[in-house]
Amino acid sequence: MGAPFSRRWFLLSSAMASSVSGLAGIDTVAHSQSVPQRPGNLLVISSGNGIKAVEKAMAILEAGGSTLDAVVEGVALVEDDPEEDGVGYGGLPNADGEVELDASVMSGPTGAAGAVGALKYIRNPVRVARLVMERTSRVFLVGEGALRFALAHGFHKEDLLTEKSRQRWLQWKEELSDKDDWVAPPNKAPQKPERPQGTINCLAIDAQGDISGVTSTSGLAFKMPGRVGDSPIIGAGLYVDNRVGAAGSTGNGEANIKVVGAHSVVEFMRQGRSPEQACLETLKRVVDLYRGTPPNLSFYALNKSREFGAATLFKGAKYCAHDGSRAVVRESVWLLEKK
Ligand code: GLY
Repeated sequence: MGAPFSRRWFLLSSAMASSVSGLAGIDTVAHSQSVPQRPGNLLVISSGNGIKAVEKAMAILEAGGSTLDAVVEGVALVEDDPEEDGVGYGGLPNADGEVELDASVMSGPTGAAGAVGALKYIRNPVRVARLVMERTSRVFLVGEGALRFALAHGFHKEDLLTEKSRQRWLQWKEELSDKDDWVAPPNKAPQKPERPQGTINCLAIDAQGDISGVTSTSGLAFKMPGRVGDSPIIGAGLYVDNRVGAAGSTGNGEANIKVVGAHSVVEFMRQGRSPEQACLETLKRVVDLYRGTPPNLSFYALNKSREFGAATLFKGAKYCAHDGSRAVVRESVWLLEKK
Protein backbone atom coordinates (compact mmCIF):
# COMPACT_ATOMS: atom_id res chain seq x y z
CA MET A 1 0.00 0.00 0.00
CA GLY A 2 1.11 3.55 -0.56
CA ALA A 3 1.67 6.01 2.21
CA PRO A 4 -1.32 7.79 3.80
CA PHE A 5 -2.63 10.57 1.59
CA SER A 6 -2.15 13.16 4.31
CA ARG A 7 1.63 12.97 4.03
CA ARG A 8 3.29 15.75 2.11
CA TRP A 9 5.51 14.60 -0.72
CA PHE A 10 8.20 16.62 -2.32
CA LEU A 11 9.29 16.21 -5.86
CA LEU A 12 13.04 16.44 -5.87
CA SER A 13 13.37 18.16 -9.19
CA SER A 14 11.34 21.18 -10.17
CA ALA A 15 11.82 20.22 -13.82
CA MET A 16 10.19 16.92 -13.07
CA ALA A 17 7.34 18.46 -11.17
CA SER A 18 6.21 20.36 -14.21
CA SER A 19 5.77 17.19 -16.19
CA VAL A 20 4.17 14.94 -13.56
CA SER A 21 0.42 15.05 -13.71
CA GLY A 22 -2.00 14.24 -10.90
CA LEU A 23 0.09 15.88 -8.18
CA ALA A 24 -1.69 19.20 -7.79
CA GLY A 25 -0.84 20.93 -4.54
CA ILE A 26 2.37 19.04 -3.89
CA ASP A 27 5.32 21.22 -3.03
CA THR A 28 8.45 20.92 -5.05
CA VAL A 29 12.02 21.54 -4.10
CA ALA A 30 15.01 21.76 -6.38
CA HIS A 31 17.44 19.00 -5.61
CA SER A 32 20.22 17.37 -7.46
CA GLN A 33 22.62 14.64 -6.70
CA SER A 34 25.73 14.00 -8.69
CA VAL A 35 25.40 11.10 -11.08
CA PRO A 36 27.82 8.45 -9.92
CA GLN A 37 29.70 6.93 -12.79
CA ARG A 38 33.17 5.81 -13.55
CA PRO A 39 33.80 4.56 -17.05
CA GLY A 40 35.94 1.45 -17.26
CA ASN A 41 36.09 -1.77 -19.19
CA LEU A 42 34.09 -3.87 -16.78
CA LEU A 43 31.08 -2.81 -14.77
CA VAL A 44 28.58 -4.61 -12.54
CA ILE A 45 25.75 -2.94 -10.65
CA SER A 46 23.04 -4.34 -8.39
CA SER A 47 20.35 -3.43 -5.92
CA GLY A 48 21.58 -2.51 -2.43
CA ASN A 49 21.48 -6.10 -1.17
CA GLY A 50 23.91 -7.22 -3.89
CA ILE A 51 27.37 -6.34 -2.64
CA LYS A 52 28.39 -10.01 -2.62
CA ALA A 53 26.81 -10.43 -6.04
CA VAL A 54 28.77 -7.60 -7.66
CA GLU A 55 32.00 -8.86 -6.11
CA LYS A 56 31.42 -12.40 -7.36
CA ALA A 57 30.26 -11.18 -10.78
CA MET A 58 33.33 -8.97 -11.16
CA ALA A 59 35.62 -11.86 -10.21
CA ILE A 60 33.99 -13.95 -12.95
CA LEU A 61 34.39 -11.17 -15.52
CA GLU A 62 38.02 -10.62 -14.56
CA ALA A 63 38.64 -14.35 -14.99
CA GLY A 64 37.31 -14.12 -18.54
CA GLY A 65 33.76 -15.28 -17.89
CA SER A 66 30.78 -13.92 -19.77
CA THR A 67 28.43 -11.28 -18.41
CA LEU A 68 25.78 -14.02 -18.31
CA ASP A 69 27.93 -16.25 -16.09
CA ALA A 70 28.75 -13.21 -13.96
CA VAL A 71 25.22 -12.04 -13.17
CA VAL A 72 23.74 -15.53 -12.78
CA GLU A 73 26.42 -16.80 -10.42
CA GLY A 74 26.67 -13.48 -8.57
CA VAL A 75 22.97 -13.59 -7.78
CA ALA A 76 23.03 -17.35 -7.03
CA LEU A 77 25.41 -16.51 -4.19
CA VAL A 78 22.82 -14.21 -2.64
CA GLU A 79 20.06 -16.77 -3.25
CA ASP A 80 22.13 -19.20 -1.15
CA ASP A 81 22.39 -16.77 1.77
CA PRO A 82 19.93 -17.79 4.54
CA GLU A 83 20.10 -14.28 6.03
CA GLU A 84 18.79 -12.64 2.84
CA ASP A 85 15.02 -12.72 3.41
CA GLY A 86 13.89 -11.57 -0.03
CA VAL A 87 15.65 -14.04 -2.28
CA GLY A 88 16.17 -17.81 -2.61
CA TYR A 89 16.86 -19.96 0.47
CA GLY A 90 15.49 -18.18 3.54
CA GLY A 91 13.24 -15.91 1.45
CA LEU A 92 9.98 -15.08 3.21
CA PRO A 93 7.19 -17.48 2.20
CA ASN A 94 3.67 -17.02 0.88
CA ALA A 95 0.54 -16.88 3.04
CA ASP A 96 0.55 -20.68 3.35
CA GLY A 97 4.14 -20.71 4.59
CA GLU A 98 5.56 -22.00 1.29
CA VAL A 99 8.48 -20.27 -0.43
CA GLU A 100 7.67 -19.44 -4.05
CA LEU A 101 10.52 -17.95 -6.08
CA ASP A 102 10.58 -15.88 -9.29
CA ALA A 103 13.56 -15.02 -11.50
CA SER A 104 14.45 -13.76 -14.95
CA VAL A 105 17.59 -13.59 -17.04
CA MET A 106 18.49 -11.88 -20.31
CA SER A 107 21.59 -12.21 -22.43
CA GLY A 108 22.39 -9.17 -24.53
CA PRO A 109 24.68 -10.83 -27.10
CA THR A 110 22.06 -13.44 -28.03
CA GLY A 111 18.94 -11.44 -27.22
CA ALA A 112 17.68 -14.52 -25.37
CA ALA A 113 15.53 -14.48 -22.25
CA GLY A 114 14.36 -17.00 -19.67
CA ALA A 115 12.21 -16.85 -16.57
CA VAL A 116 10.53 -18.90 -13.87
CA GLY A 117 7.59 -17.95 -11.64
CA ALA A 118 6.17 -19.41 -8.42
CA LEU A 119 8.92 -22.03 -8.34
CA LYS A 120 8.94 -24.07 -5.12
CA TYR A 121 11.70 -26.16 -3.48
CA ILE A 122 14.62 -24.96 -5.66
CA ARG A 123 16.91 -22.42 -4.04
CA ASN A 124 18.45 -21.01 -7.23
CA PRO A 125 15.63 -19.90 -9.54
CA VAL A 126 18.13 -17.79 -11.46
CA ARG A 127 19.95 -20.92 -12.63
CA VAL A 128 16.65 -22.51 -13.64
CA ALA A 129 15.70 -19.34 -15.55
CA ARG A 130 19.01 -19.58 -17.40
CA LEU A 131 18.22 -23.16 -18.37
CA VAL A 132 14.76 -22.16 -19.57
CA MET A 133 16.56 -19.65 -21.80
CA GLU A 134 19.24 -22.04 -23.02
CA ARG A 135 17.55 -25.44 -23.01
CA THR A 136 14.00 -24.77 -24.14
CA SER A 137 12.46 -22.96 -27.05
CA ARG A 138 10.30 -21.02 -24.54
CA VAL A 139 10.81 -18.02 -22.28
CA PHE A 140 8.72 -18.47 -19.13
CA LEU A 141 7.83 -21.54 -17.04
CA VAL A 142 5.77 -21.35 -13.86
CA GLY A 143 4.72 -23.46 -10.88
CA GLU A 144 4.66 -27.24 -11.20
CA GLY A 145 5.96 -27.14 -14.77
CA ALA A 146 8.95 -25.05 -13.75
CA LEU A 147 9.67 -27.44 -10.87
CA ARG A 148 9.48 -30.51 -13.12
CA PHE A 149 11.80 -28.82 -15.60
CA ALA A 150 14.30 -28.05 -12.82
CA LEU A 151 14.17 -31.63 -11.52
CA ALA A 152 14.71 -32.92 -15.06
CA HIS A 153 17.93 -30.89 -15.11
CA GLY A 154 19.18 -32.41 -11.86
CA PHE A 155 18.16 -29.79 -9.31
CA HIS A 156 17.22 -31.18 -5.90
CA LYS A 157 14.13 -30.35 -3.90
CA GLU A 158 14.70 -28.85 -0.48
CA ASP A 159 12.75 -27.02 2.19
CA LEU A 160 13.57 -23.34 1.57
CA LEU A 161 12.23 -22.15 4.93
CA THR A 162 14.83 -21.39 7.56
CA GLU A 163 13.89 -21.42 11.23
CA LYS A 164 14.00 -17.63 11.16
CA SER A 165 11.74 -17.25 8.10
CA ARG A 166 9.31 -19.86 9.46
CA GLN A 167 9.06 -17.95 12.74
CA ARG A 168 8.41 -14.67 10.91
CA TRP A 169 5.66 -16.28 8.84
CA LEU A 170 4.11 -17.90 11.94
CA GLN A 171 4.07 -14.58 13.75
CA TRP A 172 2.40 -12.90 10.74
CA LYS A 173 -0.15 -15.73 10.58
CA GLU A 174 -0.97 -15.60 14.28
CA GLU A 175 -1.33 -11.82 14.32
CA LEU A 176 -3.37 -11.65 11.14
CA SER A 177 -6.81 -11.77 12.69
CA ASP A 178 -8.52 -12.29 16.03
CA LYS A 179 -11.36 -14.00 14.19
CA ASP A 180 -9.44 -17.03 12.91
CA ASP A 181 -8.07 -20.02 14.82
CA TRP A 182 -4.43 -18.97 15.05
CA VAL A 183 -3.36 -17.51 18.39
CA ALA A 184 -0.05 -15.89 19.34
CA PRO A 185 1.79 -17.26 22.37
CA PRO A 186 0.86 -15.64 25.71
CA ASN A 187 3.02 -12.74 26.92
CA LYS A 188 4.33 -12.03 23.44
CA ALA A 189 3.89 -8.41 22.38
CA PRO A 190 2.35 -8.08 18.89
CA GLN A 191 4.92 -7.10 16.30
CA LYS A 192 2.70 -6.40 13.26
CA PRO A 193 5.37 -7.84 10.97
CA GLU A 194 6.12 -5.87 7.85
CA ARG A 195 5.72 -7.42 4.41
CA PRO A 196 9.00 -6.65 2.62
CA GLN A 197 9.40 -7.08 -1.13
CA GLY A 198 13.06 -7.99 -1.13
CA THR A 199 14.48 -8.63 -4.56
CA ILE A 200 17.89 -8.55 -6.20
CA ASN A 201 18.69 -7.13 -9.62
CA CYS A 202 22.18 -7.40 -11.12
CA LEU A 203 23.45 -6.02 -14.46
CA ALA A 204 26.88 -6.33 -16.09
CA ILE A 205 28.80 -5.09 -19.13
CA ASP A 206 32.17 -6.43 -20.24
CA ALA A 207 35.09 -5.14 -22.30
CA GLN A 208 33.37 -6.14 -25.56
CA GLY A 209 30.30 -4.15 -24.59
CA ASP A 210 28.21 -7.28 -24.06
CA ILE A 211 25.50 -6.88 -21.43
CA SER A 212 23.46 -9.33 -19.34
CA GLY A 213 21.08 -9.03 -16.41
CA VAL A 214 19.09 -11.02 -13.88
CA THR A 215 16.41 -10.34 -11.31
CA SER A 216 15.47 -12.79 -8.55
CA THR A 217 13.02 -12.68 -5.66
CA SER A 218 10.86 -14.54 -3.17
CA GLY A 219 8.31 -11.81 -3.89
CA LEU A 220 6.04 -9.95 -1.54
CA ALA A 221 6.27 -11.55 1.90
CA PHE A 222 3.19 -13.65 2.80
CA LYS A 223 1.72 -13.13 -0.67
CA MET A 224 -1.30 -14.95 -2.04
CA PRO A 225 -0.13 -18.37 -3.24
CA GLY A 226 0.46 -18.12 -6.97
CA ARG A 227 0.99 -14.36 -6.92
CA VAL A 228 3.83 -13.41 -9.27
CA GLY A 229 5.31 -9.90 -9.28
CA ASP A 230 7.49 -8.06 -11.76
CA SER A 231 10.79 -9.87 -11.26
CA PRO A 232 10.27 -12.69 -13.79
CA ILE A 233 8.36 -10.52 -16.27
CA ILE A 234 10.68 -9.67 -19.14
CA GLY A 235 10.27 -5.94 -19.75
CA ALA A 236 9.08 -5.21 -16.20
CA GLY A 237 11.60 -6.62 -13.71
CA LEU A 238 14.39 -6.89 -16.27
CA TYR A 239 15.27 -5.80 -19.77
CA VAL A 240 18.51 -5.93 -21.76
CA ASP A 241 19.21 -4.53 -25.21
CA ASN A 242 22.84 -5.09 -26.16
CA ARG A 243 22.82 -1.99 -28.38
CA VAL A 244 21.55 0.33 -25.64
CA GLY A 245 21.87 -0.97 -22.07
CA ALA A 246 20.02 -2.80 -19.35
CA ALA A 247 17.63 -2.09 -16.51
CA GLY A 248 16.01 -3.92 -13.62
CA SER A 249 13.86 -3.26 -10.60
CA THR A 250 13.10 -3.97 -6.98
CA GLY A 251 10.04 -2.96 -4.98
CA ASN A 252 6.34 -3.12 -5.69
CA GLY A 253 5.89 -5.55 -8.54
CA GLU A 254 2.33 -4.61 -9.37
CA ALA A 255 3.27 -0.95 -9.91
CA ASN A 256 6.16 -1.94 -12.12
CA ILE A 257 4.23 -4.40 -14.28
CA LYS A 258 1.75 -1.63 -15.08
CA VAL A 259 4.46 0.66 -16.50
CA VAL A 260 6.57 -2.15 -18.02
CA GLY A 261 9.36 -0.45 -16.13
CA ALA A 262 12.66 -2.02 -17.18
CA HIS A 263 11.76 -1.81 -20.86
CA SER A 264 10.70 1.82 -20.39
CA VAL A 265 14.04 2.63 -18.77
CA VAL A 266 15.92 1.09 -21.71
CA GLU A 267 13.73 2.98 -24.19
CA PHE A 268 14.44 6.27 -22.40
CA MET A 269 18.16 5.49 -22.61
CA ARG A 270 17.76 4.74 -26.31
CA GLN A 271 16.32 8.25 -26.67
CA GLY A 272 19.45 9.69 -25.06
CA ARG A 273 18.62 9.91 -21.36
CA SER A 274 21.33 8.96 -18.88
CA PRO A 275 20.64 5.77 -16.87
CA GLU A 276 19.69 7.84 -13.84
CA GLN A 277 17.37 10.13 -15.81
CA ALA A 278 15.82 7.14 -17.55
CA CYS A 279 15.06 5.55 -14.16
CA LEU A 280 13.51 8.81 -12.91
CA GLU A 281 11.40 9.25 -16.05
CA THR A 282 10.00 5.76 -15.60
CA LEU A 283 9.23 6.42 -11.93
CA LYS A 284 7.28 9.49 -13.00
CA ARG A 285 5.03 7.19 -15.00
CA VAL A 286 4.28 5.27 -11.81
CA VAL A 287 3.41 8.53 -10.05
CA ASP A 288 1.14 9.46 -12.96
CA LEU A 289 -0.54 6.08 -12.82
CA TYR A 290 -1.20 6.17 -9.09
CA ARG A 291 -2.30 9.79 -9.01
CA GLY A 292 -0.28 10.61 -5.92
CA THR A 293 -0.35 7.37 -3.94
CA PRO A 294 2.45 5.29 -5.41
CA PRO A 295 3.93 2.27 -3.63
CA ASN A 296 7.71 2.24 -3.51
CA LEU A 297 9.74 1.05 -6.47
CA SER A 298 13.39 1.30 -7.52
CA PHE A 299 15.17 1.00 -10.86
CA TYR A 300 18.81 0.28 -11.71
CA ALA A 301 20.35 0.86 -15.13
CA LEU A 302 23.58 0.91 -17.12
CA ASN A 303 24.21 1.86 -20.71
CA LYS A 304 26.55 0.87 -23.50
CA SER A 305 28.92 3.72 -22.55
CA ARG A 306 29.26 2.20 -19.08
CA GLU A 307 27.38 5.00 -17.38
CA PHE A 308 25.13 3.78 -14.62
CA GLY A 309 22.63 4.97 -12.07
CA ALA A 310 19.66 4.09 -9.91
CA ALA A 311 16.54 5.87 -8.75
CA THR A 312 13.80 5.17 -6.26
CA LEU A 313 10.40 6.70 -5.63
CA PHE A 314 10.97 7.35 -1.93
CA LYS A 315 14.28 8.29 -0.37
CA GLY A 316 16.28 5.57 1.29
CA ALA A 317 17.19 2.98 -1.34
CA LYS A 318 20.75 2.00 -2.08
CA TYR A 319 22.55 0.27 -4.89
CA CYS A 320 25.94 -1.35 -5.44
CA ALA A 321 28.47 -0.84 -8.22
CA HIS A 322 31.81 -2.45 -9.02
CA ASP A 323 34.02 -0.99 -11.75
CA GLY A 324 36.89 -3.43 -11.43
CA SER A 325 38.72 -1.46 -8.79
CA ARG A 326 36.30 -1.81 -5.88
CA ALA A 327 32.69 -2.34 -4.92
CA VAL A 328 30.78 0.63 -3.53
CA VAL A 329 27.33 1.14 -2.06
CA ARG A 330 25.61 4.38 -3.07
CA GLU A 331 22.32 6.03 -2.33
CA SER A 332 19.82 5.96 -5.20
CA VAL A 333 18.46 9.34 -6.25
CA TRP A 334 14.83 9.73 -5.28
CA LEU A 335 11.77 11.31 -6.72
CA LEU A 336 9.52 11.85 -3.72
CA GLU A 337 10.09 12.42 -0.05
CA LYS A 338 7.73 11.56 2.79
CA LYS A 339 7.50 14.26 5.42
N1 GLY B 1 9.60 -6.86 -6.97
C1 GLY B 1 9.29 -8.08 -6.39
C2 GLY B 1 7.88 -8.42 -6.34
O1 GLY B 1 7.03 -7.52 -6.34
O2 GLY B 1 7.56 -9.58 -6.29
